[in-house]
Amino acid sequence: MLQGKEIILGVCGGIAAYKAAELTRLYIKANANVHVVMTRAAQEFITPLTFQTLSGNPVHTDLFNLYQESEISHISLAERADICVVAPATANVIGKLAGGIADDLLTTTLMATRAPILLAPAMNVNMWENSICTDNRQRLQNNGYRILDPISGMLACGWEGKGKLPEPAAIFAKTLELLTPNDLAGRTVLISAGPTREEIDPVRFISNYSSGKMGYAIAAAACQRGARTILVSGPTCLPQPHGVERIDVTSAQQMRTAMLNHAPQADIIIKAAAVADYRPATRADQKIKKSDDLDMILALEKTPDILAEIGEDKGRAILVGFAAETENLLDNAAAKLEQKNLDLIVANDISQEGAGFDGDTNIVRLLYRGGRIEELPLMTKEAVANQLLDRILGLTL
Ligand code: PMT
Repeated sequence: MLQGKEIILGVCGGIAAYKAAELTRLYIKANANVHVVMTRAAQEFITPLTFQTLSGNPVHTDLFNLYQESEISHISLAERADICVVAPATANVIGKLAGGIADDLLTTTLMATRAPILLAPAMNVNMWENSICTDNRQRLQNNGYRILDPISGMLACGWEGKGKLPEPAAIFAKTLELLTPNDLAGRTVLISAGPTREEIDPVRFISNYSSGKMGYAIAAAACQRGARTILVSGPTCLPQPHGVERIDVTSAQQMRTAMLNHAPQADIIIKAAAVADYRPATRADQKIKKSDDLDMILALEKTPDILAEIGEDKGRAILVGFAAETENLLDNAAAKLEQKNLDLIVANDISQEGAGFDGDTNIVRLLYRGGRIEELPLMTKEAVANQLLDRILGLTL
C-alpha cells in the first residue's frame, strides 16, 4: 500500500528523534519514497546523515539554503507529498502550526501542502497537559490535522505520564491507515493464521512450517482498510498487527473453538492457517522415554476440518480458504473449493521459489465458484493480502 508513495517525514528536536530513524526504515522497507525535513533542534539529537543513509534521499534542513532550494524547493516538497508525518512533533512546532507561523522549512512545507498531515507528538507530560498546548492541538484537529497521541510511561525527563512517542510500528500503521481506502469500514473480518501444534507429550508436537506471515498480512490489511479484524493465530513469532484483535491458540481443536465462536459475527472469513490434518490419538501425560530396541509407532487421528464445518453453515459470510499444494495445484484447490463450500480459494504451489511458507512473498492463483481462475504474479504477502481483499469486496457488491 505504501509502494511508490511520497512521504515527507518531519523530525523535530526531542529525545525521541532517534525513533524517526526506525520509522524511516519501515517506510523504505514498504517501498515508499521518504524525504526527511529536520528542524534545527532535531539536528542536535540526530544527524541528517543518518536519515540520508536510511532514506537514500538528501535531507532538507534549511529554508534559506540556496543549494537545497534550487535542488528541490519547499513548495515542490509540499506538492509531491502523498502524506506528511511529523515524528516527533514538539510543543513548539505544534504551537507554530496552530498559530500560522511558518518560519522554517518544516512549518513552511506543512503549511503549503494539501496532503494529509499526521502529527505524532512527544513531550513532557506537563507540556502535553498544558491548556495552551491542548488548545493548539484542538485547533489543528479542527483544521484536518491528524494526531497520534503519545503513550504513557517513564519519560526521558524523569517524569512519569503521557508524553512518549508511540513506537515506530504504530506510527507506520497510522500512516498506512491514512493512505488506505476505508472500504472495509463497518465489516468484521475473521482470519486464521499460522500453524497448529498437536502435542505428542509434554515436550513434543506435530506441526508444519507456517510462519503466519500470510494470515497476519491479511489481518493488517483488513484492519487498515477499516474492518473490525479478528485474528485467530497459531503459535508464531510475529508481533500483533496494530488494531487487530488477536486470539492465540495452539491446537486445531482450540482453533476450531475460536473460529466457530466468532464466525457468526463475521462478514468475511479467511482461513490462511495451516492446520495439522492429524494429531496423536492420545497425548502422553509424561515425556515418552526412548526404548533401545523398539521403533516407535504413533497412532494418529484426524483433526476437525474447521473450514468445512464453517462452510456447512456460513450464512451470509464470504468464505475464503487457502490451499498449499506441491502437485496438481488447480485440481486439488478446485476440489477443496467445492468440498468446503467456499466462495474463493487461494492456491499456492509451495514448491515454487518465492511462494508459500515463511518467506515474505507469495505466488497465488485465485479460484472462484463457476470455474474462473485468476493468476497473480510474485508479490509481497502484503500485496497479496490487498489484492485478495479487493477481490473479496468485488464478490460482496
Ligand atoms: O504462514 P506462512 O508461512 O506465511 O505461509 C502461508 C501458507 C502457505 C501457510 C498459506 O498461504 C496457506 O496456504 N495456508 C493453508 C495451508 C493449508 O493447510 O492448506 P490445506 O490445503 O491443508 O487446507 C485447505 C484449507 O482448509 C485451508 O484454508 C486450511 O486453513 C483449512 N483447514 C485445513 C485442515 C483442517 N483440519 N481445518 C481447516 O480449516
